[in-house]
Order: sequence, then C-alpha cells, then structure tokens
Amino acid sequence: MKNRFPVTRTTHPKEKPQDENNLGFAKVFTDHMFVMDYDEGQGWHDGRVVPYEPLQIDPASCVLHYAQMMFEGMKAYRRPDGVLQIFRPDMNIKRMARTAERMCIPELPGDILIDGIEAVLREDADWMPKAPGTSMYIRPFIFADEVSFSALWANHYRFIILLAPTGAYYGSFTGKLSASRIYVQDKYIRAARGGTGFAKVGGNYGGAMRAARDAAEYHCKDVLWLDAAEHKYVEEIGTSNAFFRINDEVYTASLDSGTILPGITRDSVIRLLKSWNIPVHEGKLEFAKVLEAAKDGSLQEIFASGTAAVISPIGSLTFEGVDYQVADGEAGPLATKLYTNLYGMQTGTVEDTMGWTYPFDIVVK
Ligand SMILES: Cc1ncc(COP(=O)(O)O)c(C=O)c1O
Repeated sequence: MKNRFPVTRTTHPKEKPQDENNLGFAKVFTDHMFVMDYDEGQGWHDGRVVPYEPLQIDPASCVLHYAQMMFEGMKAYRRPDGVLQIFRPDMNIKRMARTAERMCIPELPGDILIDGIEAVLREDADWMPKAPGTSMYIRPFIFADEVSFSALWANHYRFIILLAPTGAYYGSFTGKLSASRIYVQDKYIRAARGGTGFAKVGGNYGGAMRAARDAAEYHCKDVLWLDAAEHKYVEEIGTSNAFFRINDEVYTASLDSGTILPGITRDSVIRLLKSWNIPVHEGKLEFAKVLEAAKDGSLQEIFASGTAAVISPIGSLTFEGVDYQVADGEAGPLATKLYTNLYGMQTGTVEDTMGWTYPFDIVVK
C-alpha cells in the first residue's frame, strides 16, 4: 500500500543494533522520522517522512523556555506471521486530545497519528527487532516552536514521530520477569489536583528527576509516588501505574483526582482482571495499609503497568531507609499471568479476545 505522505529516503542508513538482547529502552533510533507542521489559520499540514536528523530549532523557541509540549508512548509488535501491529491506538488518540486541551496545543486528528506511524514504520520495518521481549517503541510528540518569550500559547507547532527498537524497560529480559526495588517518595510530589498529572507532558517528568535520584541512591529502580495533598495515598510508580494485590483483591489509584496518568496498560489490566472475575478496586489506598499488609503477610503482589514496563513486578519497597519485602520478593503469579496475556495479545501469540490490536499491512519475515 502507498503512504498518504511523501517520503524522502536517507542517503546514509545507520548501522542497526547487533545484539537484540541488550537493546535497553529507546537508546537507538531508526533511519527516518515523521514530521508535520501546524500554523494558526492553516491547521496541521505538510506531513512527511524524512531522514532522522538533528532539528534546526531557534534558541528562542518557546518550548525551550516554557515547555509547551506533549508526547505519547506506544509500541509496534511483530506477530509470529510477521505482521506488525500496534495496541489500542484509539486510547492514545483520546489521551492526546485531553493532553492537547490542557496544554493549549491544537488537537491532532487521530488518523494523522495512525497514518504517520504507519508511514514511518513502513520505511523502517527492517529495524523491527525479533528477539523475545523486544518491540519498536513509538514516540509521537508535539512542541511549540514559535520564537517568542511571551509566556503564552504558540501559533506554530511541530509534530514528530520517532521509532526506537527496544528491549525491556527495567533491564534485560531473560525469559522470566524480574522483580524491582522501588523507593517510596514522601518528600517530593509529582502532581497535584488541577495540575498536569493526567496529561502526558515533559514537565511532569522533569520535575520528577530529583525524586528519581533519591531512589537511585537507595539502589531502587523507580519511585512510588504518594498523593500531593496528604502524602498518604499511593498514586503511581515512575512511568507506570501501580497495582497492589492484598488478600486476593487488587487495588489501584483511581483517575478521579486527575493526578495520575490514565495508562492504557492500566485500563487493559483492569479489564482483564474483571474478565477473570478477580475483584479490582479503583480508589484511595493508604500507603500505611500497604505497609501493614507487608508486615502481616497479606500483601501478595505489587506490580507496575505501562507501555514501556508492560507488567513489572515489585519485589521490595524502601521507605524511610527501611526495606519491606513484597511476599517472597519474586514475580507473583498474577503479574506473570497478566504479562503473559497482555504481551501475548500484543505480539499475536495469545488470541486477542478484546479487539485491542491494530494490525498494519506491513510484514517483516
Ligand atoms: C507517569 C506515567 N504513568 C503511567 C504510565 C503508563 O501508561 P501506558 O500504560 O499508557 O503506557 C506512563 C507511561 O506512559 C507514565 O509515564
């Protein structure tokens, strides 16, 4: 099939990663990218696939000063028959619209997102990794590149899609899920009511780095955030949503406060749990209750869910300098079952009973 966007091919193809088992997370990028412009009065225009290269950007561009930008995170997966597919793109489109509205960024029509991904994926299909646990990370983003120091929304934006062959987010995949150490952050906050926590914007992550450094000092992989107002309730884990299994029931923070990202994996986990008749509660869960459950043995599992992390079991929590082990400290049965089913559906080894996958007519043998 022909792309709806023009393509300019690179004359300098890059060397592809040799060792697909040690790709890490989005460290190398493919040969091409998708670019599109927005001008007030003209709308989104001139979508095109071009060689991946550094951007020319004016140093006074407002995004570099006031961070008016937004992004998404998706993956393309290769099925056993070689077909490339993405997962629940309708959810990314809806989340992009909510983020755009919050950031005063003009909404990008959903068909441009999907057709843009297809166009660049088709060009760079030979970059698709094949090793177990790998996929192609897709990073669509929009930024204001108007030259202005007025702290006001811009009239000109650029939309770009980058592709990165990717392995496991938390270290290499060895065929078994490994459990991570997580640092419970009760000093710094991620997002407060009325802020941008529900939106996918760079500022949420820039502001989180100081907290991630605390975590690293305690040899923890990531941060479990508590709520901003009372530092009492669990919210999310780094770039993932958090699930807690206590006495055979599952708990996760609700989206009502607008402070956590409405993860597409989170929604998928909740829907799978419900389809398996496992009780799942979306609401407020006190961190003190989690600690109590860790001490009395009723805390069975904690796991993180996200496009990058898929399902990542948490083996221990570090809080106020003390380590609290979660059950036996290893990947639990529910996290493993969710991983097997979700990643299986995404990669086409488990039947997609939910209608979540979106195959392209791109085949990589
Ligand atoms: C802060 C945060 N929470 C949760 C998630 C998980 O969202 P999703 O499952 O849509 O990847 C992400 C990842 O994008 C994130 O950055």
